[in-house]
Amino acid sequence: MILRINGGIKLCGSVTVHGAKNSVLPIMAASILAEGESVIHNCPDLRDVDVSIKILNYLGCCVSRSGSTVTIDSSTMNHSDIPDALMREMRSSVVFLGAILARTGEAVLSYPGGCELGPRPIDLHLKALRTLGADIEEKGGNIICKVREFRSGRIDLPIPSVGATENAMLMASRCRGQTVITNAAREPEIEDLQAYLRRLGLNIHGAGTSIITIEGQPCKKSVEHKIIPDRIVAATYALAVASAGGKAEILKIEPKHFSTVTDVLSEAGCDLEIRPDSLKIVCERPLKAVRPIVTAPYPGFPTDAQPPLMAASLKFEGTTVFVENIFENRYRHISELRRMGADIRTEGRVALICGRKELHGASVEATDLRGGAALAVAALGAIGQSRISGLKHIDRGYERLEAALSNLGADVVRME
Ligand code: UD1
Repeated sequence: MILRINGGIKLCGSVTVHGAKNSVLPIMAASILAEGESVIHNCPDLRDVDVSIKILNYLGCCVSRSGSTVTIDSSTMNHSDIPDALMREMRSSVVFLGAILARTGEAVLSYPGGCELGPRPIDLHLKALRTLGADIEEKGGNIICKVREFRSGRIDLPIPSVGATENAMLMASRCRGQTVITNAAREPEIEDLQAYLRRLGLNIHGAGTSIITIEGQPCKKSVEHKIIPDRIVAATYALAVASAGGKAEILKIEPKHFSTVTDVLSEAGCDLEIRPDSLKIVCERPLKAVRPIVTAPYPGFPTDAQPPLMAASLKFEGTTVFVENIFENRYRHISELRRMGADIRTEGRVALICGRKELHGASVEATDLRGGAALAVAALGAIGQSRISGLKHIDRGYERLEAALSNLGADVVRME
């Protein structure tokens, strides 16, 4: 399968943003704490969500889906391991570790290992779980965990890792007494996980700040929860409009979750009308290069929006500097963007984009999720036809991207 994009057409129309991948995955893992039914609304139809459903099914949970609502009954859970094949399908399956431990007191998972963005260590996850009472043995690529006694504690994260914060929150939800996580990740998805855990009846506070406190207890409730909008998908659509030009409305969003991206778009010269749950964006005049883009943990500029912004900045007049501080290997889209005529120089974690070059369509390959989105953004602004392969990466995080872009008037088809 490929996406065939005829670029150079101004975008015009409206598009609705689906629920956040990075929220729904930890919340689906957390659903096994419920020992009852979790009804999760605004659940996106994504490959990573399908993998989570497979994992939940393997664990013995009953999962059903109706439109964007997924219902998980975890009362029937009867496994505490995840087979290697499922672990390999999705790096973020590691967030099941804290949830399985909290529910059963034991877990066997294989090591998620590296991924397309470079090494993805989980040392901070394991350290946090050990603090809360897990004995962890790493043997032959497996992580074998057993909890002798759940004990609350203090977890001081040296870096605000999103996944480690989530695993710590999940495991702490079973530990009596108060657990304090310092230097916690502050991403909106952490707040969404807290909101879900509160609905389960847990006493948990502080998500969105650097200090999260959790008082654990068994939670046996059935709950309903609505996933927040996907801020990276919203940002990608806005950047697509910046790349191709035009005017569009992006609906069902939480603008404050990606204000770092809208600030950059305003600086570049887009006209934005930000409403409580939608964004109107008009990009009619030539856009200009912006201040250096330095990725950082939330509320800094999101690493996940770096590739699509880089693609849009190819059309900015002047030079834009990018500094990627979160992942080592997050410039793999650059060699593909060069095939479209992009003028980009890199030195370690710094990339210099000399914009305003005429881009032309090309055959390119997505090698990771957001890098794939960047290729689509660039192709929309390029003259002529592009063919993007490697759609399995894009489908991990964008629900039917071709349909969303077609709603904006783009000439995009998915084809064999
Ligand atoms: C999450 C997001 C991902 C996003 C990233 C950073 C999900 C499913 N994924 O990934 O889309 O790009 O946050 O915003 O939510 N690190 C360690 N040791 C650890 C854990 C992390 O050194 O034990 C390092 C990582 O290598 C990386 C940095 O910490 O350099 C940030 O990683 P982290 O915040 O943990 O990202 P993820 O949770 O994997």
